[in-house]
Amino acid sequence: MIKVLVTGARGQLGSAIKSISNSCEGAVGFTYCTSAELNITDIDSVMAMITTNSFDYCINCAAYTNVDKAEENSPQAYAINGLGAENLAIACKKANVTLIHISTDFVFSGKQSQPYLETDGTEPLGSYGKSKLRGEQDIQKQLDKHYIIRTSWLYSEFGANFMKSMLRLGSERAELSVVFDQIGTPTYAVDLAKFIIYLVQNDTAKYGIYHYSNEGVASWYDFAKAIFEEAEINVKLKPIRTKEYPLPAKRPSYSVMDKAKVKTSFNIEIPHWRDSLKEALKNYNSK
Ligand SMILES: NC(=O)c1ccc[n+]([C@@H]2O[C@H](COP(=O)([O-])OP(=O)(O)OC[C@H]3O[C@@H](n4cnc5c(N)ncnc54)[C@H](OP(=O)(O)O)[C@@H]3O)[C@@H](O)[C@H]2O)c1
Repeated sequence: MIKVLVTGARGQLGSAIKSISNSCEGAVGFTYCTSAELNITDIDSVMAMITTNSFDYCINCAAYTNVDKAEENSPQAYAINGLGAENLAIACKKANVTLIHISTDFVFSGKQSQPYLETDGTEPLGSYGKSKLRGEQDIQKQLDKHYIIRTSWLYSEFGANFMKSMLRLGSERAELSVVFDQIGTPTYAVDLAKFIIYLVQNDTAKYGIYHYSNEGVASWYDFAKAIFEEAEINVKLKPIRTKEYPLPAKRPSYSVMDKAKVKTSFNIEIPHWRDSLKEALKNYNSK
């Protein structure tokens, strides 16, 4: 049996992995740790957990994910997204465990107008992106056996996310304003979870950085419009510019990622975001 540790297991991605883990039919044994059960910033706990349990993989779903709060709370963001990731890499190296780590499109500045390749230069605009980039760099320094998967705009029936916020706001308000000048790709966390489980079950040893989002491109306005259409919620939607809705953290205006590397390396097909949205809403409604 392949033994897998999942950190940050109570979060959105950790919950998505848990929700589909029965598809592994006993071939994979998961140990799920919440932040209370394993604090990744505590090197002694991380070492003890990873070096005494004969894991084959560690999937790091633990992160400081509040992009705006990271601006005022950057030491904590760095502790979790930087140091925490490095702690896992050090322990994985000692115990010969492969680390699957999740990173973000926010490592890019958004100045490009072509989809970002894994080899394109990084230039995060805020503390969250900077701390996530630090985590990537520290893992690369410490451990060869790593997959760093950059993803974007995660949503699902689990945790707090844009889809669920829109469904709530759409039932409370008659009119909503959403930015149309930030372009990226929504990613259904369950699709990402399926890819991560595929990696675990097919030990290809093709380590490195990969981009994984759903297919297609959208603005947050487009995404919101699709959510309301699919959920048949009648709300007046107004497209606005980012400057009309100021937030503490700067975000990339364009963060579409090129997924050719992940598709050719692992021979996978990736669903279009709109098809995955339908699936997510179906699963949300049947929860
Ligand atoms: N959400 C997005 O839109 C998005 C976009 C691109 C990339 N990503 C990346 O995707 C990954 C998964 O994101 P997500 O949406 O699942 O995030 P999430 O729902 O915020 O979950 C993060 C989890 O990490 C846990 N955590 C925080 N500090 C910890 C610590 N010191 N030790 C152990 N666990 C800790 C949290 O525990 P508590 O619940 O106890 O606080 C939470 O359960 C992250 O690496 C994130 O950076 C996310």
